[in-house]
Amino acid sequence: MEMQITARAIQHELRPGLVVPAWAYNGQVPGPLIRVREGERVRVSFRNEIDINTAVHWHGLPVPNGMDGAAGVTQTPVGQGERFVYEFEAGPAGTYIYHAHGHEHQARELDMGLVAPLLIDPVSQDLPADREWLIMLDEWEVPEAHRTRPREMGQGSDITGTLDRYNIGTINGKAAPATEPFMVQEGELVRLRIINTGFALHGLRFEGHAPWVTHVDGRALPYPQQLRDLQVAPFERLDALLLADSPGEWRVYDPVWQSRGMSTLLRYVGKKDGPGAGWTPRPLPAGWEKAPRYNGLAAGVPATSPGTFDRVYKVVIQMGMDGSNMVWTLNGESWPHVTPMAVRAGERVRLRLGNMTMEDHPMHLHGHAFQVIGINGQFIGEPWLVKDTINLRHMDVIDVAFVADNPGKWMVHCHQAHHADAGLSTLVVYE
Ligand code: C2O
Ligand code: CU
Repeated sequence: MEMQITARAIQHELRPGLVVPAWAYNGQVPGPLIRVREGERVRVSFRNEIDINTAVHWHGLPVPNGMDGAAGVTQTPVGQGERFVYEFEAGPAGTYIYHAHGHEHQARELDMGLVAPLLIDPVSQDLPADREWLIMLDEWEVPEAHRTRPREMGQGSDITGTLDRYNIGTINGKAAPATEPFMVQEGELVRLRIINTGFALHGLRFEGHAPWVTHVDGRALPYPQQLRDLQVAPFERLDALLLADSPGEWRVYDPVWQSRGMSTLLRYVGKKDGPGAGWTPRPLPAGWEKAPRYNGLAAGVPATSPGTFDRVYKVVIQMGMDGSNMVWTLNGESWPHVTPMAVRAGERVRLRLGNMTMEDHPMHLHGHAFQVIGINGQFIGEPWLVKDTINLRHMDVIDVAFVADNPGKWMVHCHQAHHADAGLSTLVVYE
């Protein structure tokens, strides 16, 4: 697969009458879908035509370090008018994101629209599905759309990137009533691929239906689980199967964000010919109700100890001061003045992440996937969740484990990019 991608400034219509300045990949918000088969070679020639330095990051993909697109860490930033060629082998199969990853202005780049979906189809049989809906959720800050006066900018530092400033919620780049309705035939099985490219946790509800979650962050759950609210933290992905068995017209919405436009319709149009959906989820093992939960999903079979590892790092998120500025800290350190976590190729590494602050922190590790092996002190012997981004709420302690199998220098950071821009970022570095 070969493709040219150019980032440039456009005017984007969120809904009729509400047009905002945006930055877009190939003129689209969200950017163009990249869809390839596992094992396929991907070659993307990227050109930067926006007026700040940037780079393209392949979120969730274990690409070689030099292709990771973390400007200032794995590559020189791509300046205005410059080009950079990304090349890697697609894998593993799953739902991913590519997005801008500049050095200090990540929140701005993401806010302006430099996000896009990337899907990798497996070589062998995938889930059975009659159709697929790609659903990208995002938030926008649009001063003109505030009914009251826009909030004053530039007073003191705003390191939290207060979420209430985002007054528009979008599905696939549009706010209601401009969102596209989802059409379905009775009897069909629909694969949902939900991607959150905003800074807030979203819970998507398909009125009249309870989909089966099959994948988190692109990786299959051994036991699919049925949920009413599909919760997706920033830069997480959730795949689910929805059985279209209740004809009518239904709402699809985030209860918290629907008034800001994050809603659409699910509309039945006719009936599927031939047999209905032939999919039976693998039953959950006995006693699964006792499993610790993450966003409503049972995370695996409880265990009394976390097991043994070659390295264990504790990472505590707090707020601190850098001179007279408030910053976010990891173990008291704030990017770029951080002590990297050292690992060696082949090691099994455990990270214990703790959130001592009032806000959510969706923590993301570049270049690797991790198992979720402990939630608030409850260890998990047989982990079902394999992810690359994990949301820590106030006072959460979550243990994750990964195998050091992709040498390089990798970022670990909060994906609420306002937090990352204000220091909430560190590194895993191979010795
Ligand atoms: Cu989704 Cu450091 O990135
Ligand atoms: Cu954060």
